[in-house]
Amino acid sequence: MTDRELINLAFMGMKNAYAPYSGFTVGAALECEDGSVFLGCNVENAAYGDSVCAERVAVFKAVSEGRKGFRRIAIAANSPTYCLPCGSCRQVLAEFSPEMEVLAAREDGRYVSYPLSELIPKRFALQKGERSSTSDL
Ligand code: THU
Repeated sequence: MTDRELINLAFMGMKNAYAPYSGFTVGAALECEDGSVFLGCNVENAAYGDSVCAERVAVFKAVSEGRKGFRRIAIAANSPTYCLPCGSCRQVLAEFSPEMEVLAAREDGRYVSYPLSELIPKRFALQKGERSSTSDL
């Protein structure tokens, strides 16, 4: 699949965005290592902090359907500027595929792309087998 095709899917995902509070609609198309694609959109809530970004909706859909490796994510927004993923989404994407590619398209269809490792060069990660101290309780 070309970058352009994945971006078109992200715009398709954007159509389902629920963003009555910000008016900022976002769509995401997440390409998995097996070639499957999961769409996401932002889902806002009257309790603003309970809103979820399009990227994380796509990741959680994919992981809950058994995918844990990703190649690319395309993000589309109804904005004249490129919508790059927020810090939380970068962390969540990097949990699974720190070397994946991130494409961000603005409303006129132009896009930029970055390796995720450039967007989050020093993420939080646990060592294998390491648990939070609460597991000692
Ligand atoms: N949003 C996303 O869905 N993805 C991003 O990368 C940035 C922000 C959403 C969250 C909220 O619903 C709206 O855009 C405004 O922040």
